[in-house]
Amino acid sequence: MSDALPGDLVELLGRVRNLAVLTGAGMSAESGVPVFRGPGGLWEGHRPEELATPRAFAEDPERVWRWYRWRLERVEAARPHAGHLALARLETSAGPDRVTLITQNVDGLHQRAGSRRVLELHGAIHRARCTARCGRTAPASEVDPADSRCPDCSGRLRPDVVWFGETLDPERVGAAVEAVEACDCLWVVGTSALVHPAAALPELAAARGAPVVEVNPEPTPLSPRATVRLPLSAAEGVPLLADRCR
Ligand code: OAD
Repeated sequence: MSDALPGDLVELLGRVRNLAVLTGAGMSAESGVPVFRGPGGLWEGHRPEELATPRAFAEDPERVWRWYRWRLERVEAARPHAGHLALARLETSAGPDRVTLITQNVDGLHQRAGSRRVLELHGAIHRARCTARCGRTAPASEVDPADSRCPDCSGRLRPDVVWFGETLDPERVGAAVEAVEACDCLWVVGTSALVHPAAALPELAAARGAPVVEVNPEPTPLSPRATVRLPLSAAEGVPLLADRCR
């Protein structure tokens, strides 16, 4: 299997001491979770960009909640694949603090595979959060789309995810930047590398001279800057990479 990787990549992987991994929707595609910008990304004719916004929620919370419940059902039916499992094993075998996962995914599949050091930049789909001051969190599966009022106060429960036009949690972004600044290799798996600030992380690694390995069947805006581009799926490519790390 290692023949599938170029020799200089195998050598590079053997030298990695601090690994950062950035994942996007393509990481979960083979688990059955639809990507955002490809076929199958639509819901009842709406693009995610029309639903995942504060404005869409203010206008029609029931519609937005029904979309999230539909996505949550897909996520709950999904299972981590060989790529998720390889990352979780690598975190354990590499020892404390040597592998940091930075994900744009809200599906929790990395944690379900066993990864512990995961920075969820865009939140978590299985959690709801009160938009009023009480800040209560609750399982999203318990929210009634037709009546998403908070049981504790007059606020409204919303999915605990980051929407278009919203700011990411600065602490989480700071931790992601720190991990990328400390890494001696960054893998970028299954992301179109279009949405900021996550899209800036590979640029940051490249600017520091850290090798960037991209795993994606399709080229992306990052591809010309990647040190190595593996035109493989996440379930194929990530286990190959992980097998070569010591
Ligand atoms: P996109 O849907 O924009 O891109 C998915 C990427 O995964 C594409 O580059 C595909 O080529 C690639 N891909 C598809 N199948 C794959 C597979 N089996 N293995 C590896 N790669 C595969 O998803 P993201 O880049 O994650 O934000 O999108 C970033 C953010 O934009 C999302 O987190 C979400 C979205 O709108 C928010 O909701 C805030």
